[in-house]
Amino acid sequence: MEWVYIKDMKKYIGEKVEFRGWLWNKRASGKIAFLQLRDGTGFVQGVVEKSTLGEEKYARVKKLKMESSLIVRGTVVEDQRSPVGFELHIDDVEIVHNPQEDYPISKKEHGIDFLMEHRHLWLRSRRQFHILKVRHEIIRAIREFYNNNGFTLVDTPIFTGSIGESAGNTFEIDYFDYGKVYLAQTGQLYLEAAAMALGKVYNLGPTFRAEKSKTRRHLIEFWMNEAEVAYYTHEDNMKLQENLVSYVVKKVLENASENLVALGRDISKLEKIEAPFPRITYTEAIKLLNKKGSDIKWGEDLGADDETMVAEDFDKPVIIEKYPKSVKAFYMQPDPENPDVVLCDDMIAPEGYGEIIGASERIWQEDVLIERLKENNLPVEEYQWYLDLRKFGSVPHSGFGLGIERTVAWICGLKHIREAIPFARTLYRVYP
Ligand code: 4AD
Ligand code: MG
Repeated sequence: MEWVYIKDMKKYIGEKVEFRGWLWNKRASGKIAFLQLRDGTGFVQGVVEKSTLGEEKYARVKKLKMESSLIVRGTVVEDQRSPVGFELHIDDVEIVHNPQEDYPISKKEHGIDFLMEHRHLWLRSRRQFHILKVRHEIIRAIREFYNNNGFTLVDTPIFTGSIGESAGNTFEIDYFDYGKVYLAQTGQLYLEAAAMALGKVYNLGPTFRAEKSKTRRHLIEFWMNEAEVAYYTHEDNMKLQENLVSYVVKKVLENASENLVALGRDISKLEKIEAPFPRITYTEAIKLLNKKGSDIKWGEDLGADDETMVAEDFDKPVIIEKYPKSVKAFYMQPDPENPDVVLCDDMIAPEGYGEIIGASERIWQEDVLIERLKENNLPVEEYQWYLDLRKFGSVPHSGFGLGIERTVAWICGLKHIREAIPFARTLYRVYP
């Protein structure tokens, strides 16, 4: 008998198949048992009768604990009442492992600390299944977008001697004779080197920030997709970002809308996400915030609440560009029309999900860059290689970083970022 995954069973209506997976719930009476089965590709109900299994086997099935592992053989039968359109009418149950203990996660409400403490088991729940499927589709679509648009994947290092963003939130590591190095906050500086070799490049990997923030938008370890393109201007950069984000949302709607529906996501909101996106300058954002009653002043960075207030006015992601130089990273190119601001942009997701992209044109003149490093108290000697890029065939170039978990949280409609990554690292949690 052929082993068939639930996602393929539709094609086997009326046929006998073998199922391999787990029991996530059951209901049993004296004569008939309904087994809720899952196999990592979906969920299906299995129906088994005492008369089929025999007295002794049926008694054992009736006593199965939640999350027993089972191999089941039976017929796929069409059923209009089932959410998947079919059921499995079981002839035989092979018990692979019946736990000794009751499964810790039950149908009752558990607190978030309990669930995070049991994250290794919580991953098996339906909701987490659907989130991880959407995350998978988002990352698949990101890679596809770059592959379709002539980019080369360049993997950037995790250990780094040069601070990529700000000195405030680095993880320091003792690296043999070399001494102090950092876990990457970004792969950007290395992507800039690669862009001068390969033109259009991207990465996708973990990044680390020792942020003492305990918000629903911050992780200590998070995944970032970054892109960098030689000869791209700030304007080209913004177009690339909105094209990427539109593409990703479109692909998730095409390939994972079932998962979104299962998560209770309002799909109509995502259907509006098509380039071009609205753009405002930082200065306009400050005026808008003041009009809405905020007392934020020009020169202050936008906080999460400010971002949410600005985003309220738009049903697509909004691009806020040209922030003051003083609130942004050292490498951003000053605006030739107003050197107090830089040619940067942040993309803010709608519905209060906050900043999903940080981006800029990069300083490409060696002297300007050295000056900015010094202003930021960064050790110029650690940046010799980065300065070399400005010594040999320097060109204007631009790029950005998209936070994967922020994007997953937005697209899935999650209240907190910790569910957007399989094993979240937060201020107070590295277990499991
Ligand atoms: O805005 P950020 O700090 O930009 C950079 O790191 C640039 N070097 C990227 C580049 O231009 N190549 O971070 C980029 C994105 C943010 O917009 C946000 O989505 C996400 O990374 N991010 C976080 N996500 C979760 N937890 C955190 N602590 C995050 N910090 C940033
Ligand atoms: Mg940022």
